[in-house]
Amino acid sequence: MQLPGSPFFAYHNGVLCADGLPLPALARQHGTPLFVYSQNAMLAALAAYQRGLHGRDALVCYALKANSALAVLQTFARAGCGFDTVSGGEIQRALRAGAKPETIIFSGVGKTRSEMRMALEVGIGCFNVESMFELDMLNAVAVDMGVQAPISIRVNPDVDAKTHPYISTGLTSNKFGIAHTEALAAYQKAAALPGLRVIGIDCHIGSQITEVAPFLEATERLLDLVEQIEAAGIPLQHVDFGGGLGIDYHGDTPPAADTLLQQMLVRLDARGMGQRKIVLEPGRSLVGNAGVCVTEVIGLKPGAVKNFCIVDAAMNDLPRPAMYQAWHAIVPLQANAGAEASTYDVVGPVCESGDWIGCDRPLAVQAGDWLAVMSAGAYCMSMASNYNSRGRAAEVLVADGAAHLIAERETLADFTQRERTL
Ligand code: LLP
Repeated sequence: MQLPGSPFFAYHNGVLCADGLPLPALARQHGTPLFVYSQNAMLAALAAYQRGLHGRDALVCYALKANSALAVLQTFARAGCGFDTVSGGEIQRALRAGAKPETIIFSGVGKTRSEMRMALEVGIGCFNVESMFELDMLNAVAVDMGVQAPISIRVNPDVDAKTHPYISTGLTSNKFGIAHTEALAAYQKAAALPGLRVIGIDCHIGSQITEVAPFLEATERLLDLVEQIEAAGIPLQHVDFGGGLGIDYHGDTPPAADTLLQQMLVRLDARGMGQRKIVLEPGRSLVGNAGVCVTEVIGLKPGAVKNFCIVDAAMNDLPRPAMYQAWHAIVPLQANAGAEASTYDVVGPVCESGDWIGCDRPLAVQAGDWLAVMSAGAYCMSMASNYNSRGRAAEVLVADGAAHLIAERETLADFTQRERTL
């Protein structure tokens, strides 16, 4: 059977394995729903970026919103990554996982004063400023603390990333960044503010982008701006091209990171900017196909119009189908010869019709069988919730040939801990 994405999840003797370790044994030991990640798959994905950046002054800042498990962050920190963060919580998480503060960049359209203060106190590498008001706010906080905030401006290049509207961020109609037509004025304002130190320029046009063209368009637009801004006497040390590279969920064919970078870097070289520091903010492409969610079939419910395969994972564990009509492959951990083949909507126990994981899937399963929801390493656990008072799933990372429990299953005691009865 052809599985999407990663060679690190494959059948051996008819049993689906994560990096060689059989998933049924992990499901038996830890229960389900269970997320299982492969560290080797993450490092292989990172290696494609590193190959593309070989010989350049560059920093890959893993966008930890994709998967913020501490052990995952540790993996990337040890491999030399910095981190792209969008909240005070993410900055603290990255630090707890061993990130060097100067490798942390702070993006986001609504940073609060207290987040800004904390980020300045710990000494992060760069604020990606997203609006005019944020320039003034950050300046005031920095002046008050007697320091200068290192900044780049996130420019909205007005490029169509040709992706789902909820995850497209680089159009004028999106809330993100400062319009490219206003960028020069924003840089002139920033350069005149005593609490700010301009060090770079940034953009991010969307997520799950599978074509090369939008990246190249954004690159050209950003480089045009670098020329304009520097001609106005404001030097820029780094250019941050954001993240957004897609993965194969369902026959998608995104470019490999090294191939994409090669094409982007040709454009830098052509303008004599090849020596400039390059920053990237990939999330999904580093972890998406490095994880699966193992779930148990609770029961089968045949119907006049639809057959339902009800499983113990739900939209609180795997929110992407409900939120973006996303497609994840769903495969059995091992074939069940005694089960009849049929077409099912694979759904969770949550009380919403939107709680589906996959529609019209051919499966031969019975109650008690295990299924793997593929490509579940990005934007699944990091977006998981306790809806319907469901504890969040346990997480295992396969590293150095062994399975490590990196997050215990959340209990009722865990998720009611903050609450008080009257
Ligand atoms: N940098 C910034 C400023 C971002 O907003 C994002 C993602 C990234 C980097 C990383 O993008 P990536 O390489 O992962 O595409 N929950 C959605 C995706 C939301 C992406 C938000 N921003 C999903 O599950 O498809």
